[in-house]
Amino acid sequence: MLNKVTPNNLDAFWMPFTANRQFKQAPRMFVAAKDMHYTTADGRQVLDGTAGLWCVNAGHCRPKITEAIAQQAGELDYAPAFQMGHPIAFEFANRVVDVAPDGLDHVFFTNSGSESVETALKIALAYHRVKGEGSRFRLIGRERGYHGVNFGGISVGGIVTNRKMFGTLLTGVDHLPHTHLPGKNAFTRGEPEHGVDLADELERIVTLHDASTVAAVIVEPVSGSTGVLVPPKGYLQRLRDICTKHGILLIFDEVITGFGRLGTPFAADYFGVKPDIMVTAKGITNGVIPMGGVFVTSDIHDAFMNGPEHLIEFFHGYTYSGNPIASAAGIATIETYKEEGLLTRGAELASYWEDALHSLKDVRNVIDIRNIGLIGAIELQPIAGSPTKRAFSAFLKAFEKGILIRTTGDIIALSPPLIIEKSHIDQLFGTLRDVLNEIE
Ligand SMILES: Cc1ncc(COP(=O)(O)O)c(C=O)c1O
Repeated sequence: MLNKVTPNNLDAFWMPFTANRQFKQAPRMFVAAKDMHYTTADGRQVLDGTAGLWCVNAGHCRPKITEAIAQQAGELDYAPAFQMGHPIAFEFANRVVDVAPDGLDHVFFTNSGSESVETALKIALAYHRVKGEGSRFRLIGRERGYHGVNFGGISVGGIVTNRKMFGTLLTGVDHLPHTHLPGKNAFTRGEPEHGVDLADELERIVTLHDASTVAAVIVEPVSGSTGVLVPPKGYLQRLRDICTKHGILLIFDEVITGFGRLGTPFAADYFGVKPDIMVTAKGITNGVIPMGGVFVTSDIHDAFMNGPEHLIEFFHGYTYSGNPIASAAGIATIETYKEEGLLTRGAELASYWEDALHSLKDVRNVIDIRNIGLIGAIELQPIAGSPTKRAFSAFLKAFEKGILIRTTGDIIALSPPLIIEKSHIDQLFGTLRDVLNEIE
């Protein structure tokens, strides 16, 4: 395959979450992908250690999914999503609700994780309103939470750059403390022992504002984008108990933990804690077509199904909600996951993955390693005065050596496609060891 792209014509595309100037001086281009690998513009194979952006759970260019998309595009490309329907969206809703945790029986379709977050927050606020409790307007998120890039999501999220750059954000939002306790939990395998009591902060915040003003709590079961923060043992259950006690909705943002990442279909299944609302995207279509879904209980859904029948019950939706091609991709994705056992395959590989990851403990500049399911994080000692530089160098060196990793701050985060084999795990961590030994 020819590399026809030269730095001179990269100007128009303002790239997302990218160091644009650095990239355009030395572009890193993928031109094809298959299963566990990308092909670069200069013809190299790169092992995908991150399932794209935590989304390509079944691996790349899976025939069943690509064929379903092509077929649907030729049959019904688009149909209005408001006041009209098409069978495939209903079919997909049934299929995807079937793999969701018990009790989350209805799904509202969106086009991304960010939109799913906004949708979930709006459902929570409107739910209390239709139940006659419109005084519940407060939302509680968590420090170091990432809930996408829209205003609701960055308000409940706990990322400093967002809070610094983008104005006043939503009002009526409070935050739980994050659960990262490196002094006590460094190099823990799986769920940390320390920190369950941090969930009690919810009780304090609720007391401060009075429960009658609080609509919902939103957390990622495992924080991903801020560096893989695994919840302490018992923490999520305690949040659940406090929410239940006070009539507050619990929202799990499962955009990265959904669809098999932890070795169970969802993190809710892994931890045995059921949210009232579950936010998803990414793996819902294997990342191939933009889509998201917000799952709710029948109690929430049915609360809206009141009043005159000609009125719209929930004043919300996207032009592409339940898009036919995305729905076709979604059905083919769920079928692929089921046929290949991918929603639970991570459980079989988790201990091999954990051992390989923790074998890097003694490599220089490694100050913590964290893991759960098929997720791993390696935290590096930042270079004094140049935070993020060491991890970025690791990313560049890794790409040069044929593996795709992701970095956030000085943390390397790994989340491979769920079709990964042990030989790929060996290659991934073997190469990473060399990378960390070679960079500054
Ligand atoms: C937990 C979580 N929520 C929301 C999002 C936003 O998803 P999107 O980029 O599809 O808008 C992400 C993306 O990584 C995420 O990790």
